[in-house]
Amino acid sequence: MPAGFRWPAGFLFGASTAPHQVEGNNTSSDMWAFERAAGPGHPLLKERSGDAVDSYHRWPEDMDLLAGLGFSAYRFGIEWARIEPEQGHVSRAAVAHYRAMVRGALDRGLTPVVTLHHFTSPLWFTARGGWTAPDAPELFAAYATTAAEILGEGVEYVATLNEPNMIAVMQGFLQAAASGAADPSGSGSGTDLAAAAAAAADPEVPDRHIPGQEHGAVAHGLPAPDPAVTEALIRAHRAARAALKAADPRLKVGWTVANQVYQAEPGAEAAAAAYSGPREDVFLAAAREDDWVGVQAYTRTRIGPDGPLPAPADAERTLTGWEFYPPSVGHAIRHTAGIVGPDVPILVTENGIATADDTRRVAYTSGALAAVAEAVADGIDVRGYLHWSALDNYEWGSYRPTFGLIAVDRETFERTPKESARLLGALAAAARTAPTDAPDAPAG
Ligand code: FCB
Repeated sequence: MPAGFRWPAGFLFGASTAPHQVEGNNTSSDMWAFERAAGPGHPLLKERSGDAVDSYHRWPEDMDLLAGLGFSAYRFGIEWARIEPEQGHVSRAAVAHYRAMVRGALDRGLTPVVTLHHFTSPLWFTARGGWTAPDAPELFAAYATTAAEILGEGVEYVATLNEPNMIAVMQGFLQAAASGAADPSGSGSGTDLAAAAAAAADPEVPDRHIPGQEHGAVAHGLPAPDPAVTEALIRAHRAARAALKAADPRLKVGWTVANQVYQAEPGAEAAAAAYSGPREDVFLAAAREDDWVGVQAYTRTRIGPDGPLPAPADAERTLTGWEFYPPSVGHAIRHTAGIVGPDVPILVTENGIATADDTRRVAYTSGALAAVAEAVADGIDVRGYLHWSALDNYEWGSYRPTFGLIAVDRETFERTPKESARLLGALAAAARTAPTDAPDAPAG
C-alpha cells in the first residue's frame, strides 16, 4: 500500500456473481441446452449446472452473509432467459423476483451493481442467429427496457454486457468451427456452443472463458474476434444504453471488459498493441461515452514478437491453470484508464482466484488490493472493488475451480464463509464506517 493511503469515502467493496453460475435451473437459456446436448462424460464439459448453488431461492441468505461480513456492494445479474423465456413473452414473476433482489440489496446496505447479460442468452435468441442477427440490438434493447423496471427500484450501476470481448472471441472460433453444428435446440447432435467446445480441444484456441472447456489443460492466447461480431455487440450495447437512459436517466450505464493484461516483452510493444487491439482495446474505446467501465482481471499474458508466450515454467498456477499474478488488476486499471480517459470512472467488477487453499486467496487479494490502492493514489478514478466471486459456483463446465469467498455444500447448499471473506469484509466495514482509519490490507 502507498504510505498513508486511505480508501476514498464511498469506495465500494463487494463481491460478484452471475445468474447462470449461481441460480440453478436456467432452463430457457442457450447454455442449458448446450449442457444437455453435451451429455454425461463429455470431455469438455465435466458437469452440468443443475441446481448451481440455488441462489435463485437463497439470495436473501447470500445477501445477509455479505452484509454481515461488512461488504457494501453486491454485483449480480438479471437472467434474460428468465425475463423473456420466449420471444416477446415477459415473465412478470421473474421481473418481480429481481425487483425483490434489488430492494433486498438496498435494504441491507449493499449497493447493487446489476448485469443484464452474463454470457448466457435465451435459447430462442441464439437459435435465431444471436448477436449478428440484424435485429439483435433491437431485441436486446427491448429486454433492457423491461429490465429498467427492475433497476428503477434504486439501482445506480448497470452493466449491459459482461465481457463482450470474450463473447466476440467465442463467436470468432465458432464461425471457424461451425460447419454442420448448428442445432441450438439442443435436441440434435450439437449446438453452436458445442461447436465452440469442440474447437476448444484445438491447442490454438484460448485458455479461458470457453463454456465447457476443461480448465486444466491450457493453451495460451486468444483467437481474434470477427470484427462483424465486435460491431454487432457494440451496437447492442449502445441500443441497450439508449433504452435504459430513456426509461430512467438516473441509471449509470456501462459494460465490463475482460482484461488479459498483455505485457510486451522488450521489443514486442508493437506486437502487443496489435494483439490487444481487436481483443480488448476496441471494447474499451467503445466505453468512452459510457458512465463507467468495468475492469475484470485475473492474470497476465506476456507477448513476444511472435505473439503470446506461455506463463513462466516455474510460475504458480491456479485451479484454472492461470498464472498466479496478483498485480494484474492494477495493470488492467491503468490500461483501461489510458483508453477510456479520465472522465469515465472505473469499477473493478471481477478479480479473484480459483483455489482450494484459501490462504492463497488471501495472499492474492492482498496483492490485488495493493495494486488497486496504488492506482487510486495515482489519481485514477476507481470507485470500487468487487471480488469474483461471492460464492463457489459453476465455472462454465465444472464446479472444481472454486473462486468463492463463501464455500457452498453442493448437497445441502449450506454456505460457509472462508477466512478471505472475513478479512475482505472487515476491510470493507472499516472503509465504510471510518474511511480515515481504514486498515491497509485485509491480510494481517
Ligand atoms: C470471468 C467471467 C466469470 C467467471 C470468471 C472466472 O471472465 O465473467 O463469469 O467465469 O471469469
